Amino acid sequence: MKMKIAVLPGDGVGPEIVREALRVLDAVARRSGHTFEIAEHPVGGAAHDLCGDCLPAATLAAAKDADAVLLGAVGGPKWDSLPAAERPERRALLTLRKELGLYGNLRPVKVWPALKGASPLKDEIVSGGIDLLVVRELTGGAYFGEKLRSADGRSAYDVTPYSVPEIERIALLAFESARRRRGRVTSVDKANVLETSRLWRETVTRLHAAKYSDVELDHMYVDNAAMQLVRSPARFDVLLTENMFGDILSDEASQIAGSIGMLPSASLGKGGRGLYEPIHGSAPDIAGRGIANPIATILSAAMMLRYTFGLDAEADGIERAVGEVLASGIRTADIAAPGVNTVSTTKMGTAIAEVLA
Ligand SMILES: NC(=O)c1ccc[n+]([C@@H]2O[C@H](COP(=O)([O-])OP(=O)(O)OC[C@H]3O[C@@H](n4cnc5c(N)ncnc54)[C@H](O)[C@@H]3O)[C@@H](O)[C@H]2O)c1
Repeated sequence: MKMKIAVLPGDGVGPEIVREALRVLDAVARRSGHTFEIAEHPVGGAAHDLCGDCLPAATLAAAKDADAVLLGAVGGPKWDSLPAAERPERRALLTLRKELGLYGNLRPVKVWPALKGASPLKDEIVSGGIDLLVVRELTGGAYFGEKLRSADGRSAYDVTPYSVPEIERIALLAFESARRRRGRVTSVDKANVLETSRLWRETVTRLHAAKYSDVELDHMYVDNAAMQLVRSPARFDVLLTENMFGDILSDEASQIAGSIGMLPSASLGKGGRGLYEPIHGSAPDIAGRGIANPIATILSAAMMLRYTFGLDAEADGIERAVGEVLASGIRTADIAAPGVNTVSTTKMGTAIAEVLA
């Protein structure tokens, strides 16, 4: 199988954390005999410094040519004065998502047994273990619908369009993901009020009956889902939702884990193509100090193996290695309890790679 990966380290802590993810992928390759064809390309402020463009044509072409893209992070104060459309986040991230046709965002949120204390939720809520996946539609809804302000400027509307094929393709992603997990999908909508939500619910229900009756499906109103996420998050396996609800719920869910340095993400398009990146930014406040937590990026690489390359066993192996290293007490600063010794970015990456060796 061709496994071509475009690696875009980016800015700030990006190159530091990506280096550790590559170390882990290398350990997987050595052990499994797979060959990952890896090439690095400039993106973000670093690319702007090199050639005046945060997404050089050659980087975009390489990303399109690859099966998967592994991205560190982009942006930082140095480039904040650029015109909005040229800034790293807009020029690089939004263009990449659009050009790669990415329509589904997957954000797993897990409270690792060894890090229960880091969650802001009470012990009795997290003690049963929390491991959920938010599947958010990325290309439709109010963010991309028609927007209008009246001539007198005193009223406005945002249209929230959704079509059956758009709903089907994201629901399919959620059902397929559930089959790889604990087999449960909770579809989140506001079908008591919104017509798009009624279409959403009908479509998800029909697809479920036709192709995924082995997966358990329930429906939940978004207000209730927001409440349940902090009250009993352990009840969720896969949360499927539209663009705006997903934006809000995935940020809420990300807080449950405690540190932003632990959370990976995937944005998927047609044919399994995907962009994989930690949910955090370039962390300019700690960049260059070798203390960033590489686990979010390492787990993003695991998602890449699972979702683009179908290497579930290898992805499980990386996740198990992360769990083992955490259980052994190794901590970067962001996940360490006060007074506990901490390790560098490289030490953390090396420890995880060594479990896999
Ligand atoms: N996808 C992306 O590339 C992306 C996402 C968000 C923000 N950004 C950009 O990143 C820059 C910084 O943004 P911000 O400070 O608001 O958010 P941030 O996520 O970079 O940092 C927020 C806080 O979390 C800490 N943090 C983040 N990642 C960490 C890690 N791996 N290990 C330990 N601590 C970590 C940082 O030190 C900081 O205190 C901005 O230019 C922003 O636009 C980029």
